[in-house]
Amino acid sequence: MPRHIGFIMDGNGRWAKKRAMPRNFGHREGAAVFKKTINWCRELGVEAATFYAFSTENWKRPEEEVNGIMELLRRYIKDIREYAKENVRFIFLGDLTPFDKDIRADLLDIMETSRGNTEFIAGVALNYGGRAEICNASRILAKKCVSGELSAEEITEELFEEMLYTNEMPPLDLVIRPSGEQRLSNFLTWQSAYAEFVFLDVLWPDFKKKDLENAIEEYAGRSRRFGGI
Ligand code: IPE
Ligand code: IPE
Ligand code: MG
Repeated sequence: MPRHIGFIMDGNGRWAKKRAMPRNFGHREGAAVFKKTINWCRELGVEAATFYAFSTENWKRPEEEVNGIMELLRRYIKDIREYAKENVRFIFLGDLTPFDKDIRADLLDIMETSRGNTEFIAGVALNYGGRAEICNASRILAKKCVSGELSAEEITEELFEEMLYTNEMPPLDLVIRPSGEQRLSNFLTWQSAYAEFVFLDVLWPDFKKKDLENAIEEYAGRSRRFGGI
């Protein structure tokens, strides 16, 4: 059983297009699947999952789509609070500063109040980019070196990992990407170094518990060597 699964929630736009609906209709449907997937992971005994919801590159999209996603996020905060009452811890990965003040305050509050929850960790990547995360970690360490708190020689992989958004999560074991695309698109760049990948042809709004079970079964059959034999 993978301890930590990353989900690249992709294909919402194409799902809507197939139904001759606006792209934001697909995002709404995709958000509903996000909620269900948290439950499926808990039922199956996975410890943590990180969901790629909005990338640092997604700001390039038309204003109408970005606004629609922000509205959806605002609405979802209520649901997230409900989960947080069910012993689920939420971690938001990414730089939250560009979000509206109310959204940002809610996200920080949920992160803080759910900190002690132990049943499951749900990561939500918002304005997240793997490269930005690595840059950010480097900046933190560089400042410590400049202030004399740390010497360059003391920088190890372990210390570097402590500066990443995932520092309190189990190691990433599996990345699932639906939608037929076979790329990472700047998701968990550092963490995925030895993760397994499962690419699926379904679009995210059509993702079912069976797809998750199949992906886990495929993962279970893989031989992970981490460079050994
Ligand atoms: C992923 O679905 C959701 C976000 C990036 C917010 P897309 O919107 O990328 O859907 P496609 O890839 O265009 O179908
Ligand atoms: C990745 O999907 C980002 C999210 C799912 C949030 P994209 O649709 O943005 O990725 P590309 O553009 O196909 O690589
Ligand atoms: Mg896409």
